[in-house]
Amino acid sequence: MKETLSRFLLAEAVGRSIRGRGLGVRIQGVKGGKVSLHLGAKPGEVAPTVLITGDPLRAKHFAETFLENSFCYNQIRGMLGFTGTYRGKRVSIQGTGIGIPSTALYVHELTHGYRANCIIRIGTCGALQKDLQLGDIVAATEALTDSAAVAKFIRQPHSLPKANAQLLSFAESSAKELGLSLKKGPLYSTDLFYSEDNSRYGQSSMQGVLGVDMETSMLYAMGTRNNFKALSLLTVSDNLLTGQESTPVEREKQTNDMARLALEVVVKVYEGGGL
Ligand code: HPA
Repeated sequence: MKETLSRFLLAEAVGRSIRGRGLGVRIQGVKGGKVSLHLGAKPGEVAPTVLITGDPLRAKHFAETFLENSFCYNQIRGMLGFTGTYRGKRVSIQGTGIGIPSTALYVHELTHGYRANCIIRIGTCGALQKDLQLGDIVAATEALTDSAAVAKFIRQPHSLPKANAQLLSFAESSAKELGLSLKKGPLYSTDLFYSEDNSRYGQSSMQGVLGVDMETSMLYAMGTRNNFKALSLLTVSDNLLTGQESTPVEREKQTNDMARLALEVVVKVYEGGGL
């Protein structure tokens, strides 16, 4: 896929004129010996590998469905986070809320405050390809964006933020083992769920983009800059071209398949010595 600076929209212009002061370097403004501002976990309570998902109640559901001996380490702002074990491997599952700013905040605190070094997003996306079916699982190889936050964060926007190659390959092999089909390709992360610009997904730069979410681009940019492994797995919950949408019951079953896949990737990361 052709990578051009223009695909980052304002990234270069904004990146040159606004340099964050230490964003991504430390937790800022945390007092009283707390590890982080928005997460109440004590030191050591968050696993090195964390699955993140927008809906905190879905984090709870995944923890109850898949983890053993899990406990809730965070209730601040209702953004639930859990740690437990999956097939003997320690893993946390954290809600992030919707959108890039909220996701960036939690990912920052997880990776800087708690030293998480592998973050796998398990979310949903709207499909931008007719042949993508509801329930299909997508692994985002890289992410385009219209986000001003990502533009500010990326210092040198010469290439699209990408998934960690090892995690991507673990996802492919785990999908085969579980009998799940996995579509790989670029994703688009938008700041606006609702927009009056009906043509925004029809531009030529969007050719080949599998779907749209509201988080992945920032996760990948942070992974690259801050040196942690990042992958985004997404279940197709709606198709923007055909207008189809999953029901809540279908969505639960489909996102469970994706969560299982992500957890199998976690096992491979541990067994591959990646943590
Ligand atoms: N737009 C943005 N994010 C999404 C969508 C969508 O249509 N569906 C699921 N996440």
